[in-house]
Amino acid sequence: MKGIILAGGLGSRLYPATKVVSKQLLPVYDKPMIYYPLSLLMMSKITDILIISTPQDIHLYQRLLDNGSSLGIKLTYIEQPKPEGLAQAFILGKDFIGDDCVCLVLGDNIFYGQGFSFLIQAAINRATKEQMATIFGYYVKDPQRYGVVSFNDKKEVIEIQEKPVNPKSKFAVIGLYFFPNKVIEIAKKIKPSNRGELEISEVNNYFLKEKSLKVELMDKEFVWLDTGTQDSLLEASNFIKTIEKRQGLKIACIEEIAIKKGYILKSDLKNIINSMGASNYSEYLKKLI
Ligand code: G1P
Repeated sequence: MKGIILAGGLGSRLYPATKVVSKQLLPVYDKPMIYYPLSLLMMSKITDILIISTPQDIHLYQRLLDNGSSLGIKLTYIEQPKPEGLAQAFILGKDFIGDDCVCLVLGDNIFYGQGFSFLIQAAINRATKEQMATIFGYYVKDPQRYGVVSFNDKKEVIEIQEKPVNPKSKFAVIGLYFFPNKVIEIAKKIKPSNRGELEISEVNNYFLKEKSLKVELMDKEFVWLDTGTQDSLLEASNFIKTIEKRQGLKIACIEEIAIKKGYILKSDLKNIINSMGASNYSEYLKKLI
């Protein structure tokens, strides 16, 4: 399974913080935002990853993460010339995906919780063995800001609505999607919405109509954090800080995941630390050796 991180967009709701820097590079407490979705892919053993960003920002991601070899993973980069929708990722990434299944994760989504890796493994199996897509629903108080899952009386999913004015449920679709290979063909078929974007919700509805979409509803113990506004970005930082301080462990430390998953050796980690200079982050990495 291949992975795609979409880190495009104008970040206009966070202006002026995002005037000259891509939103997904802003810090969430002690590390760039993109480390969080990247760590999710790495923990899920998805190590062949495409990063998509704007023409003006893509080189910043390359500077940050290079070709991934220091983390024992493979990173490729592609520009999205204009923000024309999440589903465009599959069209832009079609050569990268090749004949594989694909996981799309949004570069500004942060997930935290026990038991999640089990659900991810099930989603990977569903895509690779059953040609089925998986998305995740999460109960929120403001569903109109997201894709929303609609249910019938029998609690069966009947539709995914993109940012509905009157949402039919409180289950928002989180920015993590697992698809079989035919997602490329489906993305090519859908038409731009009223806001001129190829909507991921349209792709999901396509799979739903074909009865090949699994919607996993997440427990309330699971944490899905938004980073779309100044307040939610600060709250996400505070959340990560609280847990890291309490446990003395880091969340989404990509070097730690690389060593624990066996993607790199201790000698590789030493090289990373040596190239880093002194910081709390490098002190933490030293303790891992
Ligand atoms: C996008 C999707 C939406 C999804 C959300 C999750 O919204 O279009 O369906 O619920 O990501 O973060 P956007 O971030 O483009 O507003």
